[in-house]
Amino acid sequence: MLDLKRQYQPLHQELLAAVGHVLETQQFILGEQVASFEQAAARQLGVAHALGCSSGTDALWLALAAAGFGPGSTVLTTPFSFFASVSAILRAGATAVLADIDPATFNLSPAAVEAVLNGPQGESVRAILPVHLYGQCADWTAFWHLGKTRGLTLIEDAAQAWGAEWGGVKAGGLGDIAAFSFYPTKNLSAAGDAGMVTTNSDELAERARMLRQHGMRRRYYHDEIGWNARMDGFQGAILEVKLRYIDGWTRSRRNVARRYHALFHAAGLPEAGPYPVHGIVLPHEVAGTCHVWHQFVIRSARRDQLRDFLAARKIGSEIYYPVPLHMQDALKCLGYAEGSFPEAERAAREVLALPIFPELREDEQQTVVNAITEFLS
Ligand SMILES: Cc1ncc(COP(=O)(O)O)c(C=O)c1O
Repeated sequence: MLDLKRQYQPLHQELLAAVGHVLETQQFILGEQVASFEQAAARQLGVAHALGCSSGTDALWLALAAAGFGPGSTVLTTPFSFFASVSAILRAGATAVLADIDPATFNLSPAAVEAVLNGPQGESVRAILPVHLYGQCADWTAFWHLGKTRGLTLIEDAAQAWGAEWGGVKAGGLGDIAAFSFYPTKNLSAAGDAGMVTTNSDELAERARMLRQHGMRRRYYHDEIGWNARMDGFQGAILEVKLRYIDGWTRSRRNVARRYHALFHAAGLPEAGPYPVHGIVLPHEVAGTCHVWHQFVIRSARRDQLRDFLAARKIGSEIYYPVPLHMQDALKCLGYAEGSFPEAERAAREVLALPIFPELREDEQQTVVNAITEFLS
């Protein structure tokens, strides 16, 4: 499914030198390596501020808290994402409201969001938190318009979308504030937990910086109750090395995705529309955007049998995510039930992520495609 060693091996010497430098300087928490990674990251994303922090989950939490969302405020997001997209809202003390997804992209549907905003819960919503799921930006033309016309803050969950673009603007610079994850399986990955908050707002950056460090602006003078959400020096040093390679890795991922499409079409696999009975549906890139293919996710009505069939042939696959968030035990408090979000529920039954990473070889992809063709025939 993912062989991280293929990325590590050619970088071995460079990474050891970077880690060695942290040991030489003894700057283990934030410090010069994190600061120089933050500057390089901000330049690459075209944003004014980038703040390294302890995880993507903490980045979401910092973004929400910095933008003033806590007890008494309501944030709207998707039911089809990793748990943290909703748990961070609740942990910040705010209320989470959900809207269904667009079945073509798996991202939050602007039409469903608009319907919620026009409904009884709409009055209380102050922010929208779209997730750029699988490495493809949510429909930012529509969300920008909704934010503008209704005076809503836009918070990006860009955990899976380093380098993705909408309308020529990179994820991280689309909304008012954004959160990234550098979890080891992400496109840009640390050697442990790490994350980042990005924003073009001086004020939000200053607040996030203060909250990241126990609410301190001056050492040992606490203006607010923040927490410890700092990035450590080793992660900053490692991420700064990898940042030099990420554009090339993104190009390789895009090639791998193109190759999957070509191989599936060459195999003559039927695409039977959005809800296939016998075939599969391949993912696609929205025109005019840059998808960074964190995941290559197909749909199949016989997903579980297909997954077993692949596993028997030692082909890795994964389900992101098998249970929509409104149906998680921990989130029953949101007050939804099965049937509340039919598209998210259908996606949870049908999605299957195939192996994708920059170093994946064509013969390996051919093996995956052959196995799926055999299953379907
Ligand atoms: C969409 C999404 N949001 C948030 C997170 C949380 O990031 P982390 O695992 O770094 O806390 C992740 C990654 O796991 C994610 O995929």
